[in-house]
Amino acid sequence: MATQLILVAASGLAREVLALVRAHGGYDVVGFLDDDVARHGTTLDGVPVLGGIDAVTEHPDAELLVCVGKGASREQVVERLDGLGVFPIRYATVVHPAVDVPDGCEVGVGSILLAGVAMTAAVTVGSHVVVMPNATLTHDCVLQDFSTVCAGVALGGSVVVGRAAYLGMNASVRENVRVGEGATLGMGAALLVDQPDGETWAGVPARALGVPTGIARHRNDGWPATAEHTERIDEGARA
Ligand SMILES: CC(C)(COP(=O)(O)OP(=O)(O)OC[C@H]1O[C@@H](n2cnc3c(N)ncnc32)[C@H](O)[C@@H]1OP(=O)(O)O)[C@@H](O)C(=O)NCCC(=O)NCCS
Repeated sequence: MATQLILVAASGLAREVLALVRAHGGYDVVGFLDDDVARHGTTLDGVPVLGGIDAVTEHPDAELLVCVGKGASREQVVERLDGLGVFPIRYATVVHPAVDVPDGCEVGVGSILLAGVAMTAAVTVGSHVVVMPNATLTHDCVLQDFSTVCAGVALGGSVVVGRAAYLGMNASVRENVRVGEGATLGMGAALLVDQPDGETWAGVPARALGVPTGIARHRNDGWPATAEHTERIDEGARA
């Protein structure tokens, strides 16, 4: 018999996970938990919304997967579940069966890898990470816990995606570059230099949103942190 699975948040991501496990087996999705009371007792794609997150205590045998789209919110939900006695062993890890996870690559608990994700060598995916279709994670990349990598993202070698960072669709990150914790990289961006924690950057080359061209010379908040960063951003702008 397939393992019972409850999806936490009746979200678009949860529907994608539901479609995946329905097509490929492994889990029997018995319901959603969602704090929106208006949804309690309704169904989504034929699966009932069982109640709020606190109702997790009524389903001690099911595995869980937190399907909140935003990493920081996923982290809050996991903290709440922790307070309700949910330990890491309860979390499912859902990887599309056609995704190859080579020896030397790791995927943490509670993470979701959708169709077409490519991992090459020594890729480390932390816990509660979401990687959407056709993202490419090349050698030695690290995706820290609660990060989100949208469809079509391409990461060069040894890229680090910080905790709860969000990379929009089709963004590209140059090798050896770090996306800061809680940072957001806009869809279609080309990130050439380290992106500071918590900032939103976009464009080609990527720069902080709302900061005019020439960011490297005009900002006065301590970033770019080094003369080397300044030079690299200017180089990117000239390229
Ligand atoms: C970067 C992003 C987070 C910014 O969102 P936002 O804060 O709501 O920003 P706005 O839409 O108000 O745009 C602010 C400015 O940034 C520009 N901008 C927004 N996104 C941009 C992008 N990806 N690339 C370049 N410029 C962008 C806008 O044109 C606007 O410029 P203006 O001030 O000159 O008019 C968002 O646009 C984005 O790319 N999100 C990722 C979407 C995604 O991948 N979704 C996947 C769902 S599965």
